[in-house]
Amino acid sequence: MKPFVCLLLLFLSSEIRSFDIIIEEAPESADLGELLKEFEPSLAERNKRSVLSDDDESEVFTEDSITLHSYKVESTITSHFVNTMIRSKVVNNAKHPQNIVFDIQVPKGAFINNFTMNVNGITFSGSIKEKSVARNLYSKARARGKAAGLMRTNSLDLENFKAELNVPPGSKVQFEIHYQEALRRKLGVYEHALYIQPGRLAKHLEVDIYITEPQGFGFVNVPKTITEDFAGLVKITKGDKKAHISFKPTLDEQRTCPTCSTTAVNGNLLVKYDVKREQSSHLQVFNGYFLHFFAPDNLPPLPKNILFVIDVSGSMWGLKMKQTVEAMKSILEDLRPDDQFSIVDFNHNIRCWKDELVYASSVEKEDASKYVQRIQPNGGTNINEALLRAIFILKEASNKGLLEPNSVSLIVLVSDGDPTVGELKLSKIQKNVRTNIRDDFSLHSLGIGFDVDYDFLERLAQENHGMAQRIYGNQDTAAQLKEFYNKVSTPLLKNIVVNYPMEAVSDVTQNSFHNYFKGDEIVVAGKLKPESVPNLMSIINANSANADLTYQLIEEAEELNELFEESKHVFPDFARQYWAQLTINQLLAERNLATTSAAKRNITQTILQLSIDHHFVTPFTSLLIESENGNERMLADSPRDPKGGCCQTLVVNARVPPNLPQPTPETGAQQSKTAPPDVMIPKLVDDDPHFIINLPTSQINVCFNIDNQPGSILNLVSDPEQGIAVNGKIIAAKKAKSGKLNTYFGTIGMYFKEQNMKIEISPEKIIVKDAFYSRMMSWSESISMDQNGFLVSVKKNSNVTITVNENMKLLVVLHRAWKKHPVNVDFLGLYIPNETKFSAATHGLIGQFRIEPEVSVYDVRAGTDPEKPIATMEKNGDKLTVTRGTQKEYLTHPGMPTSVTCWFVHNNGKGFIDGHYKDYIVPQIYSFFKRH
Ligand SMILES: *[C@@H]1O[C@H](CO)[C@@H](O)[C@H](O)[C@H]1NC(C)=O
Ligand SMILES: *[C@@H]1O[C@H](CO)[C@@H](O)[C@H](O)[C@H]1NC(C)=O
Ligand SMILES: *[C@@H]1O[C@H](CO)[C@@H](O)[C@H](O)[C@H]1NC(C)=O
Ligand SMILES: *[C@@H]1O[C@H](CO)[C@@H](O)[C@H](O)[C@H]1NC(C)=O
Repeated sequence: MKPFVCLLLLFLSSEIRSFDIIIEEAPESADLGELLKEFEPSLAERNKRSVLSDDDESEVFTEDSITLHSYKVESTITSHFVNTMIRSKVVNNAKHPQNIVFDIQVPKGAFINNFTMNVNGITFSGSIKEKSVARNLYSKARARGKAAGLMRTNSLDLENFKAELNVPPGSKVQFEIHYQEALRRKLGVYEHALYIQPGRLAKHLEVDIYITEPQGFGFVNVPKTITEDFAGLVKITKGDKKAHISFKPTLDEQRTCPTCSTTAVNGNLLVKYDVKREQSSHLQVFNGYFLHFFAPDNLPPLPKNILFVIDVSGSMWGLKMKQTVEAMKSILEDLRPDDQFSIVDFNHNIRCWKDELVYASSVEKEDASKYVQRIQPNGGTNINEALLRAIFILKEASNKGLLEPNSVSLIVLVSDGDPTVGELKLSKIQKNVRTNIRDDFSLHSLGIGFDVDYDFLERLAQENHGMAQRIYGNQDTAAQLKEFYNKVSTPLLKNIVVNYPMEAVSDVTQNSFHNYFKGDEIVVAGKLKPESVPNLMSIINANSANADLTYQLIEEAEELNELFEESKHVFPDFARQYWAQLTINQLLAERNLATTSAAKRNITQTILQLSIDHHFVTPFTSLLIESENGNERMLADSPRDPKGGCCQTLVVNARVPPNLPQPTPETGAQQSKTAPPDVMIPKLVDDDPHFIINLPTSQINVCFNIDNQPGSILNLVSDPEQGIAVNGKIIAAKKAKSGKLNTYFGTIGMYFKEQNMKIEISPEKIIVKDAFYSRMMSWSESISMDQNGFLVSVKKNSNVTITVNENMKLLVVLHRAWKKHPVNVDFLGLYIPNETKFSAATHGLIGQFRIEPEVSVYDVRAGTDPEKPIATMEKNGDKLTVTRGTQKEYLTHPGMPTSVTCWFVHNNGKGFIDGHYKDYIVPQIYSFFKRH
């Protein structure tokens, strides 16, 4: 008997590609009898139909007598990076040689890493080689090779990988493929799709998806489970940072019907999730690489200037146009009043709904909607002219200064076919668009159906900072169009630049971006320099609707080790491979734009090296699959063209502890008559609204307490001349301690009338409002916001500084209590730095001390408590009895209280403050103080 093994390997895709289908004969040495014995010694009786000893196997046989012994799919997702393995074990139970096919769908954008086979004990393993090297090696072994072929499929988001073998009776074959993919966040969701297509009933079918997300999950769900019937068989186990989705249907559960021998398992298993975002910006540093994810939310949308360029050529007639109109109606409805828009519809002619951009008022939107509904598709396709017209309209508006500052301009092209009129050369159109648009606008393209040269539309988008998508030309078109539009409908930021210290990183991927749209995510990756410090800092600058933002982040390099080391199901190379994929994709795009062949070659060389180093099948590499002895080789190919120093002396407020610590004798509490204005540094902070007023001339600190009802709002500063009000709202501790219910400042409100800015600070969040927008910032990240010189700077979980100009700066310090503490709550402290100068008319509990009162303290004597000496304080002629104490101050050493000695004024500051403390109660958090 002359055994033979025919191998056939295809690599299919929706793109124009070339494929090699190679048929190879087995080496003479591969005696089948020998092989089978080696493979599984118990298989002496080869002639029996059964090669597997399970009882139920007869049920597994299909007419072609091929048993799928097991089919295992495992995806390991680590920080949105997926490593997928699919392994299939098949036996030919027929008495004759048969073709065995391994056919799987790989998501577009995934990179195939490896493919191995074991045929009757002989292992064929894959390696990534430069294309010509692989072909050369392959051809050397191909003396007996027979065929090469080309195939093409039209699937949307998937590529096919197919291996076909002709094997003798009784043969056992195991296929195993690995591919890797970075999940892109879209509309706030990461989506992982596994196409499960075992082809027949499998004795053991196992699908496992393991997800590890250091940020923790926002949500995880499985909206699609191949078919509805399998929904109950999909198990989801979700922890805080790890999730496991498993699907293990029994043989009977796989059947299309109870007596059927065909499998119902054929379709998508879809997992959707998002991570928690306590911070907009998230850095992960692992094994020498870093990944930086940036996905801010809670920002007001930027106004947009949008031109819809819609193909209305004859081919759009019917369902496609109907669906496009449907989508346009709802898209138009969603435009915001400060958006400007117009519509260009084209066939061989170019028409415009309006020759210029108009604001999206309801009247205009209605009119545009009627216009779209009247369109009758016919004629040819002049894409070139249509795009140039759209660019012209945007440029005109820009030149005339008609665009809102900070607005984002975009063109959305919807087309279903290649150009047939005007400029037909795709490269020429690309060039025309590119030179006219320059970097001013972005172009997004949507290809409907399959007649369209999607590669061309994708290149157009890619070259012009846009996104592209292909859409089925079916009943779903309207929904898909709308979904695509939603991705670009809400620009939140523009001119985003991400920076790291040069000395700490190298090989950083693209770090500046035109726009950031809501729901999207900006990802930057790079290498850490070996000698760099154990933490990494990043600064992101961007323009939002009404302010310039700066996000600052520092991340420990070792932070993730613990999480990953204890997990069995993590992919430890995620950061390294993620970086490589980003880099390769960017280089491919760069290569498209390269103008000289030398530059192209240079880029090609870099891509090639990366592909080999990181084991990726890319346009410049092939997967060479060879037997151990190198006698048999197969080739899997893919085509070439896929695609402060503030607050020096400060105020502090601290609670007077129930038993005062050792007093330090006061030296020279002298009287002073000349209080230099504007040097006053009143301060206030901390537990239980306690005020410390630092009197620099007298060189003493005076403190007092205000015991008020929770919910009351006290005016702290009221400067009518500069139009500044600062108020604090009182909250209480969770319960009384030692018979006293402490109170604190839970919210601090600031109103700056001139700038029309309102700031509300609480331990939960910081809200900054101007006339138009309200922006929420969280304490969980360092971020600063510059709105025309009005600066709000948050230091992660520590403090926020509001700087209006060099004479006006306020600091609010956050004090966090242990969450489960029985008594303490989170609260705030307010510090007013020296440089802050209020006007002469300033009042309020603290504001009144802008001018230092004449204060002297004398006659220090023992009180009832020997630990607490008392004294007489004279203020502007009035005498009070004060007690020596200390207060906590948090500014000298941030996070750590320092004791400050002070003279405590009893009875809610009576005699020291102007009037009664109740005079300072105001109705609202932004009210000014009014004398009653
Ligand atoms: C592919 O898998 C085989 C077998 O597991 C292994 O020997 C080989 O190194 C892998 N190749 C790549 C490129 O990962
Ligand atoms: C090729 O790449 C290297 C490094 O990436 C660069 O220094 C060189 O200028 C490039 N040459 C050309 C012709 O682009
Ligand atoms: C604010 O917080 C940051 C970060 O914790 C700290 O470095 C800084 O000193 C603080 N500023 C003040 C004035 O306390
Ligand atoms: C703030 O005032 C104190 C005196 O109270 C002074 O020692 C310090 O230098 C001043 N700091 C600034 C920044 O003016």
